[in-house]
Amino acid sequence: MYKMEFTTVDEAAEHFASNLNGRKNIDDSFWICDLADVKNKLDRWNELMPRVTPFYAMKSAPHLPLIKLLIDSGAGVDCASQQEMDAVLRLGLSPDRVVYSNTAKQISHVLHAKSHGIKLATFDSREELEKMKQVFPESELLLRIKTDSKESYFDLSERFGATIEESFALLELASHLGMNVVGISFHVGSGCKNTSAFATALSDSRRLFDYAATVGLRLKMLDIGGGFHGSMNKSPSVEKFASVINDSLDELFPAIEYPDLRVISEPGRYFASEAFTLVSSIIGKQKTYCNEDHSVSYVTNEGVFSSFLPKIGAPVPDMEDVYILGGDSGRKCTKARLYGPTCANTDVLMTRLLPDMTVGDRILWKNTGAYTFSIGGKFNGFGASMFYDIITADIARMRSETPPSV
Ligand SMILES: Cc1ncc(COP(=O)(O)O)c(C=O)c1O
Repeated sequence: MYKMEFTTVDEAAEHFASNLNGRKNIDDSFWICDLADVKNKLDRWNELMPRVTPFYAMKSAPHLPLIKLLIDSGAGVDCASQQEMDAVLRLGLSPDRVVYSNTAKQISHVLHAKSHGIKLATFDSREELEKMKQVFPESELLLRIKTDSKESYFDLSERFGATIEESFALLELASHLGMNVVGISFHVGSGCKNTSAFATALSDSRRLFDYAATVGLRLKMLDIGGGFHGSMNKSPSVEKFASVINDSLDELFPAIEYPDLRVISEPGRYFASEAFTLVSSIIGKQKTYCNEDHSVSYVTNEGVFSSFLPKIGAPVPDMEDVYILGGDSGRKCTKARLYGPTCANTDVLMTRLLPDMTVGDRILWKNTGAYTFSIGGKFNGFGASMFYDIITADIARMRSETPPSV
């Protein structure tokens, strides 16, 4: 692990591309993580949503220096398993800053959470509530409700969350079982396109707060999940989300009426995407086996089995985020196909006009931290395993305070 200061990520990529710096081979692909970007995102979040504490969804990019920076700056972490909980506890995170946000928890993992004092967990079914009553009756539970997430890149409510009617029944059951339901959680879907999804979910939450009081439960916590974009060019912007969330909180949960309300969120993509750049190498070029789509094929050492898993993880990034290190000016463009490195015919990254490349060229894949290396495998032994942590001075200078230190 390296941490160095560079002016830009491109300068860092040039540096690491021509120095082994712990890689086995000079042409191995590698990741760059810009911690200054992470700190900037956190500062911006705190400015925009002072009532909402982010609990980083580490599933999006479980990179320890990034997590350490966030927790040292006051964030908590959303964990889904024993392994994730262990990772953050080892970093020194206090158990009350962990939310075990998995609505179907493995019993041994629950017992592990219990033995480490991690009490806060989500549920969305009768069976899970009964399981928690049996194995961890002192837990503090957040009832996860469905949201309108159909338009989101990942429609999480298709699978997770109770409907409002089910939620009424679950609150009654929790009260009957003597379980400590402390609040409501939701997720508007990853890559949310619709700010009003937050307004609706917060209004449903308020209804459930009111109902809970009628069955003897005093709710005091909201977990507003993730869904915020990772790329700052994508709309709706975090400012737009923040404005809807702040207005809804002020209207539905005014501080005067809810003085001890604790509001957390579980952003993953927001912190992970832009902080990371993947640098891969062109390892092959051939003019055979082409068809009318393309007259040249390139092979690079990252593909759909290592970093870009369409449908379950990150799709191949937009072209504005992909370019050749050193620029492509003066290179002729040809209809080309870019393959990943494995023996699978489906390992296709793109078929489009691409600048002429040669073996040894480096491709920069910007804004690719979220749901890439956390999901990808090592099929055929490919996939970057080296991470270089940097601080870009340009970004650090944009802020008035000192650069982050990890
Ligand atoms: C329970 C939960 N929380 C948080 C997240 C993070 O979402 P995002 O990356 O959209 O912020 C996810 C993503 O799948 C999730 O399932």
